[in-house]
Amino acid sequence: MAKTRSHYVCQSCGASHLKWGGKCDACGEWNSLAEEITEAAPPKSMGGKKGRVLAFEPLSVEHAPPARMATGIGELDRVLGGGLVGGSSVLVGGDPGIGKSTLLLQAAAKVAASGLPAAYISGEESADQIRLRASRLGLSQAPLGIAAAASVRDILASLEDSPPALVIVDSVQTMYVDALDSAPGTVAQVRAASHELIRFAKKRGSAVILVGHVTKDGQIAGPRVMEHMVDCVLYFEGERSQMFRILRAVKNRYGATDEIGVFEMTGSGLAEVANPSSLFLPERDRPVSGSAIFAGLEGTRPVLVEIQALVTPSPMATPRRAVIGWDAGRLAMLLAVLEARAGFRLSDQEIYVNVAGGLRLSEPAADLAVIAALLSAAKDCPLPAGAVFFGEVSLSGEVRPTGSHDARLREAEKLGFTRAYTPTRHKARQPEKTDLSLGITPVAHVEEMLTLAV
Ligand code: TYD
Ligand code: MG
Repeated sequence: MAKTRSHYVCQSCGASHLKWGGKCDACGEWNSLAEEITEAAPPKSMGGKKGRVLAFEPLSVEHAPPARMATGIGELDRVLGGGLVGGSSVLVGGDPGIGKSTLLLQAAAKVAASGLPAAYISGEESADQIRLRASRLGLSQAPLGIAAAASVRDILASLEDSPPALVIVDSVQTMYVDALDSAPGTVAQVRAASHELIRFAKKRGSAVILVGHVTKDGQIAGPRVMEHMVDCVLYFEGERSQMFRILRAVKNRYGATDEIGVFEMTGSGLAEVANPSSLFLPERDRPVSGSAIFAGLEGTRPVLVEIQALVTPSPMATPRRAVIGWDAGRLAMLLAVLEARAGFRLSDQEIYVNVAGGLRLSEPAADLAVIAALLSAAKDCPLPAGAVFFGEVSLSGEVRPTGSHDARLREAEKLGFTRAYTPTRHKARQPEKTDLSLGITPVAHVEEMLTLAV
């Protein structure tokens, strides 16, 4: 009988330990070690048998770009880089209840309706539950094959004979490989199940989409080990209390990773939002203080979004600072720049910054809009109506140029804005465009904001 060996694997980072402990030494997570039993394989040496000789191929072969299969959901296709690639594997992660199953059932039904065979396999819901969801989504007539299964062996056996163009596995944490003793959802099972499904995709040319749950701190549970195995990693995010959701690519072997897809959760499933700016802009008749519109960029698409700030005197020695949808460290930096470079002191004030609508911004170009919102809030004076802001602020207080200057201005103009506070352009690199009706106020230094905008 083969000897078994037990070791303890961190369910958060996948590190393996010989002894159980309360804390994982590798990632510092508490209470995350679980016992896994493996068969101890006899150590193999490299000696003796010779390996197969590889036939190296030249790099410069005429190669057609990979064929893409459009899912028919434009926002999903955009994030995938133009549709699914046959033989590829995609991991879709997100909090429970965010809408992963809804989105993928809709995508599978669309693909099936377009005439390509598709299969939706759920380890979480029964066939009746899937049918119920489909009827709520108005998809009951789609020629989609559904199955409730959790054994990877059964799944592969069923797909082997006629591999569908698209296979959805919801979720990978419920799948198990019967050769392993550990429970579904453990690192070993998730790794083995993903490995088998990805290998099937590569071998048979199906596109496989795996659903993965995310832990409370935002990692795909069971965990990083999957992210490097798949070709694309998409995160589906949003506040559950808000109606819209954002699909974001964090890894894509076949496209850009900075694209986002925007959806709205409606009574009949997820609807695409083709013009996201309309979601993130306020609808009010009179201007209020502490609100600035940022002309941002998500991937290749310009998105306008409201940044809100609240500044109030603090009774505490260390005033509170809270940021939602932006980087707290970046806010601390801007406050320091305002104080040191523009003589505007906020250190005895509580400061709250919120990006409207639950969008998460990562662009440094939001700096100028945050500064505008902070100044407006601190002075309780609304910013000029119809104004947008963008520009990166450096530690010296200078406002630096950002990419896609014109795309941002065009989007602002299209949505009826009349003035833009922007970095000064590199004259040589970006000749002035004259066909814009929007007024431009170049801002070279944050100090100027004190007199220009408020
Ligand atoms: P679901 O796709 O089950 O989430 P996940 O697979 O990520 O866990 O989405 C569940 C939520 O979506 C649930 O709270 C109800 C809501 N929902 C709608 O608002 N409209 C719909 O048409 C459907 C199917 C779900
Ligand atoms: Mg689900």
